[in-house]
Amino acid sequence: MTAETATIQQRVRELGPWFHDLDLGGVRTAPNHPLGNFLQELWSTVERAFPSDMSGKTVLDIGCNAGFYSFRMAERGARVTGVDHSDAYLGQARFAAEILGHDVEFRRLEAYDVGELGRRFDYVIFMGVLYHLRYPLLALDRVVPLVKEWIVVQSLVRGPQWERGAIAGDYPITEERLFEEPGFPALYFVEHRYAGDPTNWWIANEAGLAAMLRSAGLRVEEHAGPGVYFCRPTRGER
Ligand SMILES: C[S@@+](CC[C@H](N)C(=O)[O-])C[C@H]1O[C@@H](n2cnc3c(N)ncnc32)[C@H](O)[C@@H]1O
Repeated sequence: MTAETATIQQRVRELGPWFHDLDLGGVRTAPNHPLGNFLQELWSTVERAFPSDMSGKTVLDIGCNAGFYSFRMAERGARVTGVDHSDAYLGQARFAAEILGHDVEFRRLEAYDVGELGRRFDYVIFMGVLYHLRYPLLALDRVVPLVKEWIVVQSLVRGPQWERGAIAGDYPITEERLFEEPGFPALYFVEHRYAGDPTNWWIANEAGLAAMLRSAGLRVEEHAGPGVYFCRPTRGER
């Protein structure tokens, strides 16, 4: 092992635990991740949402963690801003950027406060965050106005995986059975923990997640996989 590898290994240990499994000069940051190869699998689902040449494009990665998606965007030539509310994860992202030689702006910011950035972005990545929020619709309402072209949203989904079909514009108050139909939009509230994580608050079913995105002013262009949506802003059109 070279002295440089040993130094990286030491810093990776100090900055851990890691959620993103990155390869930093031959040193893996989370080789025994309990979710296995989930990052690469999700990336292979979403990568076609982005052009291969992103020169001149801007990207906002919300809940960027250690920067996995930010780095994929930077590799394609985009100007990337990654935000997260965790100093620990931002520390990992900055160290990884240094080792990998990526010029990415990482900032500490709550998802609710992205408007403070004061600019819009061609692409927004909002993956793995929505179910961690106590106020998911508030966050979407703050995020969507920043999207110029596309937003890629991924969220944990549970319950029925299909939509029951078109939802009517209104229902009489005597309509009760509808709410028991498996494909009706629903959000499950987690009072305590799910998967040992007290920050898992609201878990939608597929219909619920799609309905929330539409309600926040997005048009779903593609339901690309479980809990994965490629959307464009509607800007008021319905
Ligand atoms: C499950 S990880 C997902 C990381 C990455 N986006 C991905 O998909 O691999 C959730 C990330 O969102 C961040 N996060 C959670 N709540 C947040 C909030 N309110 N504002 C900003 N970041 C938040 C966490 O610190 C963490 O880095």
